[in-house]
Amino acid sequence: MNLIDKSIPAVPVAAAPALNRIQTLNDLSPDQIRAIRQIPGHDQAKPRAIDARRPASIFLDQARFELEQKNVFRKFAVPVTVSARLPRNGSVIAHDGYGVPLLISRDTEGKVRAFLNACTHKGSKLVEDCETHLTKKLTCPYHAWTFGLDGRLVAVPREETIANFDKKDRGLAELACREAGGIVWVMLDRNAEPDFRGMDDLLAADMEAFDLPHMHVYGQKTFDLAANWKLVQEPFLEGYHVQRLHARSVGPMFADVPNVTDVLGLNIRQISGKVNFTPECLDTEGENIHKSVTHAYLVFPNTVIVTSPYYISVMIIIPRGPDRTIVDYMMLTRGKADNEKAEDVYRRSYEMILNVFGNEDFRAAEISHTGLSSGAISDVVYCGLEETIPLYYDILERFL
Ligand code: FES
Ligand SMILES: [Fe+2]
Repeated sequence: MNLIDKSIPAVPVAAAPALNRIQTLNDLSPDQIRAIRQIPGHDQAKPRAIDARRPASIFLDQARFELEQKNVFRKFAVPVTVSARLPRNGSVIAHDGYGVPLLISRDTEGKVRAFLNACTHKGSKLVEDCETHLTKKLTCPYHAWTFGLDGRLVAVPREETIANFDKKDRGLAELACREAGGIVWVMLDRNAEPDFRGMDDLLAADMEAFDLPHMHVYGQKTFDLAANWKLVQEPFLEGYHVQRLHARSVGPMFADVPNVTDVLGLNIRQISGKVNFTPECLDTEGENIHKSVTHAYLVFPNTVIVTSPYYISVMIIIPRGPDRTIVDYMMLTRGKADNEKAEDVYRRSYEMILNVFGNEDFRAAEISHTGLSSGAISDVVYCGLEETIPLYYDILERFL
């Protein structure tokens, strides 16, 4: 099933009205500022020539897919959602993207917890949709067993009719879970030793500088794509395609230059100056830094975070098979729109970004997958404007 909505027309990028909550260079983290100060003028930015290839089989083979699942997705805690989807104590969401029915709650103390979304009576899902619910307890729709947000079983109708039974023994199955920098990480395998290595302090500091933990989820859309997850992720690790694939949408806003790239633990930060960027423009007081500089993060192993002038895009790219990927796209804004102009900018931005990502980047991943599946080429070649892709694969391959 392909959920890409191809009916959304391309709209021009919103002209920038004065929205309240802009960020200037000085709002960012010291390490982000250091990296931004390294961006050369476009005339000084020269990509290297590189010799980097990967076999086509890494995108196609069932055995490779299973190895990634075993050694990465089931071994490390993975990003499952953003803190903004659990804005208050008592927030609960269900999340099925990884093929594991998850229930994520922010309990009465504010701690984020993850459980299997399965009632301990007969396994029924407790929450069926994927909306954010605000509640004090979770009642199973089937026979109304009721659980606290900490997973404890608190009520069983006609409990006296079950012999040898203690509610204490039938709490929800809990998974290791942590929250940092506005991202919620979960260990999908209950039996594996929890490994939160992907959560890096510098990454969390960058996300806090963006105020990611307190942002507002303006819109969310799920894409179900016929492509390997790494092909879906690749366009967000390179600028090579931007002037070409996006020539008729956002391409003209960007420059055909390499990024300033830093590795933060297992994660990658790419910073680039847009077409209007000059090193001198950084010294203009009060300017929205996101108008001249784009940040794109790869949060290990599968999450992309990209900044835009008035919003941040978060994409959790979830492998479901060698040739199937679910993308959970979220557009986050600095608070709800509090005036018509802001609402107009957010609405048009949301339509524009769904069109660019959905009909251009994700489409490119699907047609790339189709061509690779034909066996036409045995390896993929990366150029100097794509050098973050082999850098990312070097990190991933350490665990395979
Ligand atoms: S399955 Fe949940 S109460 Fe019976
Ligand atoms: Fe793109």
